[in-house]
Amino acid sequence: MARVLVTRRLPDGGLDPLAEHELVGPQPDDRAYSHDQLVALAGEVDAIVSLLSDRIDAEVLAAGAPRLRVVANVAVGYDNVDVDAAHEHGVVVCNTPGVLDETTADLAFALILAAARGTSAAEADLRAGRWPGWGITQYLGRDVHGATLGIVGYGRIGRAVARRGAGFGMTVLHHSRTDTGEPGWYGDLDELLEIADIVSLHVPGGDATHHLIDARRLGLMQPTAVLVNTARGTVVDEAALANALHNGRLFAAGLDVYEREPEVHPKLLDAPNTVLLPHIGSASQATRQRMAQLATSAVATVLDGGTPPNVVSRA
Ligand code: NAP
Ligand code: GLV
Repeated sequence: MARVLVTRRLPDGGLDPLAEHELVGPQPDDRAYSHDQLVALAGEVDAIVSLLSDRIDAEVLAAGAPRLRVVANVAVGYDNVDVDAAHEHGVVVCNTPGVLDETTADLAFALILAAARGTSAAEADLRAGRWPGWGITQYLGRDVHGATLGIVGYGRIGRAVARRGAGFGMTVLHHSRTDTGEPGWYGDLDELLEIADIVSLHVPGGDATHHLIDARRLGLMQPTAVLVNTARGTVVDEAALANALHNGRLFAAGLDVYEREPEVHPKLLDAPNTVLLPHIGSASQATRQRMAQLATSAVATVLDGGTPPNVVSRA
């Protein structure tokens, strides 16, 4: 029997694959472990089941050596885990690819529709009693059907958003570093940003994509354009985005992720035409359960001496 640190409460059934092992955590009130607590606990367990809000950095991984064998992040993104340090200490890192694509794409599309049509501000007016009745010049958004959708990051989730775009009669273009060989690929991100009516981000977080969308690139986008980010907050320079929205340099934004979660840049909170969600891309009951089970199954497999399919390879 191995000892497994489970940092937070998981959806029902999420711990089933670990039934044979001794579990440490989560804390009784489901409070997040502090970084110091993670460092202190890492050396006393064989495995960690972490969430994207846990920082599993070099210090935690060094403290885990030589006992710690596997870290399974209950998320497809793993920018919170120092994969290089894990490899140095012989720790396997796992994530949850594939089981959340459609759910996250649904949410990205919800943001595309909500941001383009300004549904948040319109609903807020109605709820606050500020709606004077139907008006022909009120709440005029941008059409989603027929628009050009630029998908940045054409992997599992980007492709799932592309399918939804095609269903809405959109012209769908995409950017990734590797030529996909498929129609609509743009190797030059700047060119894509210049022509897209709606840009949806689906790249991983981390150093390579930090502020991929910065002030200069926001300046390339059309003033009528909509930016949607369900990737990672660090992909967009939030201060620059807030300025662009306040100055009318961009029509609208739909955000699910933020640079310093759970903080949201104060200028985004009062930016016009901005829909803000609290990182709920994969948050359906079925998908969160699948994610938890995929992560904990991977832990069980590693502890059993096997290699699960969802091991993160070193970049
Ligand atoms: P994926 O299948 O690995 O796709 C990533 C895509 O991004 C690939 O097309 C990749 O192609 C491209 N890419 C990587 N680095 C790039 C760069 N520097 N510049 C341009 N393109 C780059 O990943 P996924 O499963 O679709 O997930 C994508 C991300 O979505 C996750 O990493 C996570 O951060 C985020 N996510 C958020 C939520 C949420 O709740 N909001 C839910 C799930 C996932 P190349 O390598 O060829 O460039
Ligand atoms: C969520 O953000 C994930 O990476 O799964």
